[in-house]
Amino acid sequence: MGDFAAQPVIVDCDPGHDDALALLLAAGDPRLRLLGVTTVAGNQTLDKTTRNALKILALAGATGIPVAAGSARPLIGELTVASDIHGASGLDGPDLDVPVGEVADVHAVDLMRRLIVEATEPVTLIATGPLTNVALLLRGHPEVVPRVRRVVFMGGSTERGNTTPYGEFNIVTDPEAADIVLRSGLPTTMIGLNVTHQALATSPVIAEFEGMGTRLGTICAELMTFFAATYRRVFGFAHPPVHDPIAVAAVIDPAVIRTVAVPVTVELAGAHTRGATVVDLHHRTGQPPNAAVAVSLDVDAFWRLLMTAVRRVAG
Ligand code: BDR
Ligand code: CA
Repeated sequence: MGDFAAQPVIVDCDPGHDDALALLLAAGDPRLRLLGVTTVAGNQTLDKTTRNALKILALAGATGIPVAAGSARPLIGELTVASDIHGASGLDGPDLDVPVGEVADVHAVDLMRRLIVEATEPVTLIATGPLTNVALLLRGHPEVVPRVRRVVFMGGSTERGNTTPYGEFNIVTDPEAADIVLRSGLPTTMIGLNVTHQALATSPVIAEFEGMGTRLGTICAELMTFFAATYRRVFGFAHPPVHDPIAVAAVIDPAVIRTVAVPVTVELAGAHTRGATVVDLHHRTGQPPNAAVAVSLDVDAFWRLLMTAVRRVAG
């Protein structure tokens, strides 16, 4: 399949072990044209998430893709990073000593704006971190909104949280940004914990990465081994869920997930529930749907897409 059929996308991320796999999938699947990568503070501070994105793209041989750093903190309040899950670097585990490309001399929001304006067709934004950059783009540059096809984000849940009892990390980190995106009028797709907790990097998955026999395959195996240890320690999970690449997979092949069109509100005020996604699955609020919310995942199809892409970029 040539570039003519490839969907233009921008990935906004905070690598992050699962963001790293999301970048490899976005760079490695020929059905996507990765126009640029933008970074946000989340799993780690902005300098670290940006460096991590550059490293992963370098390992994927995708150094021609522009990378720009964006927001160093959420719209309101202070950043709390996820060192307990992703380590001090944000990508602890493997030795990622690799020569990296340059970070663009432009803010992430301005790079997104430029890439969207220059694109010949509407661009899909895939967000795998807090939605700070995306919200700033939509608020600061409303003229580009008609040129955004949709926003597909990993965040929230139809069930409970992972950072607070009811809040998922990306939404809890910047609830106001998520609120802006969900009320923007753009088509949105929410990939929440209710589906991402089905995509587990089990021992056979890690063995498949290792068995690729490439440096990148080994790095993926080592990333997942570190991730497994933190998920075991913090959550008692037998295997770690790889949240973020599901958002990319859902753009490559929408059949990987099943969605329902429902109203989603972000709790901004709750004393114990700030950052929770209130998903009206049974249409009790009478509000119009503002999101396609993933409710099931074709786990085998997802792993096939991811493994094929990692083999492709490493080969
Ligand atoms: C989300 O939070 C981060 O730790 C992961 O990278 C993912 O984007 C899961 O809650
Ligand atoms: Ca992430």
